[in-house]
Amino acid sequence: MIPQLINREKIYIENIGQYEGKEVKIHGWLYNARHSGKLSFLLLRDGTGVIQCVISLKDVGEEIFARAGQLTQESSFVATGTVRADKRAPGGYELLVKNIEIVHIAKEYPITPKEHGETFLMDHRHLWLRSSRQHAILRVRHAIIKSIRDFFDSRGFTLIDAPVFTPAACEGTSTLFETDYFGEKAYLTQSGQLYMEPAALAFGKVYCFGPTFRAEKSKTRRHLTEFWMVEPEVAYMDLEGDMQLAEEFIEFIVQNVLATRREELQILERDVSKLESVTRPFPRLSYDEAAAMLTTPEAIAFAQEKEAPAFVPGNDLGGADETYITQKFDKPVLVHRYPSAVKAFYMKNDPQQPDRVLCVDVLAPEGYGEIVGGGQREDDLETLEAKINTHQLPMQAFRWYLDVRRYGSVPHAGFGLGVERTVAWICGLHHVRETIPFARLMHRLYP
Ligand code: 4AD
Ligand code: MG
Repeated sequence: MIPQLINREKIYIENIGQYEGKEVKIHGWLYNARHSGKLSFLLLRDGTGVIQCVISLKDVGEEIFARAGQLTQESSFVATGTVRADKRAPGGYELLVKNIEIVHIAKEYPITPKEHGETFLMDHRHLWLRSSRQHAILRVRHAIIKSIRDFFDSRGFTLIDAPVFTPAACEGTSTLFETDYFGEKAYLTQSGQLYMEPAALAFGKVYCFGPTFRAEKSKTRRHLTEFWMVEPEVAYMDLEGDMQLAEEFIEFIVQNVLATRREELQILERDVSKLESVTRPFPRLSYDEAAAMLTTPEAIAFAQEKEAPAFVPGNDLGGADETYITQKFDKPVLVHRYPSAVKAFYMKNDPQQPDRVLCVDVLAPEGYGEIVGGGQREDDLETLEAKINTHQLPMQAFRWYLDVRRYGSVPHAGFGLGVERTVAWICGLHHVRETIPFARLMHRLYP
């Protein structure tokens, strides 16, 4: 039987400073323990922080002191004691314990302070979430998500949720997850964009924010099969307005995280000076300027060193190409006007150079790759129909979408920002798998 010890007072370690000198009960789990003769030091975590509990045999007596000795790593218990300020203690406070109530003695905990391999940790992700590093990452993720919502909510954007089951591909047919929708084919959405466009013509400024799906058969450090994307879309906006919105948005997120999550960034040993320099304006390169940078002897040598294919002008940028470009700047870089051949069907041709489209990718600094993709949408019915045909997409599935070009078509633009790549960049993580609570990768469906 698990003792039903409930935290009715709702006292948590993150607010422990308010209770200095008072007696409190903390409900949590054993993070670590040290015993020395007649003293025990228990590190108690409650999900909001960690506090050192000091237990003295002299103060508590034999029975309670023995309980402290019984606790294994991650055992759950409730400690009652007096809060005392102590500069040396982690967090600045410690608990002078009067009583300990055991809730559950944990079985031998698989994750120990010794080094574990990445696969082992990912297999134990449900437990790994308890570690201080994962805590820091997921709290930064939360701050990023809150900043995203705050940004759009405070600028008059209406939240419009996009569906997850969709009849058509938005971002190419090679990464679709197919489902059987009562005998019809439906796909898990790759992007909410096709629904944001009509919504923008209805509401002016909109955004959607939800999970998106890509059957990515590549095992790179930047790809998940399920990831979160936020997608603003604005009527009467062009590529220039879109780029300005993306810049303002990214600066807002980074500066907000710096203001609210410094402690977590410190736990992650993130060099925050690299984030502090993320202020507008960001450098901008046309695709042609980027291509020129990527065909220098230095860039070719860089790709070789990374064992990546050499950049071919006219092609899309690869991961190593993006890394090379961003290493030349200390801010995110906007690369615009890619060849239409490498971009999605809905992008508007550049009237100045018809084989280019009015698109923008934002590349994060320090080699974290593309975090934003977007641009101005094709607003002419016939041109868009021709593009759907060129991309060999089923016209029937886009009939409703084409109505946006039939009834009061206007210039409009938007973008999508990938949350996990943004978390990886801001936290300074090598791989996106740690940026989401339960990652979905080509070879991972558990836990
Ligand atoms: O560049 P993408 O494919 O753009 C779109 O989907 C547009 N329809 C968005 C729009 O204009 N409304 O994806 C946008 C972003 C990428 O820049 C990247 O950050 C992220 O989504 N992303 C992924 N993140 C993790 N794993 C994957 N497999 C991702 N694919 C894209
Ligand atoms: Mg893209």
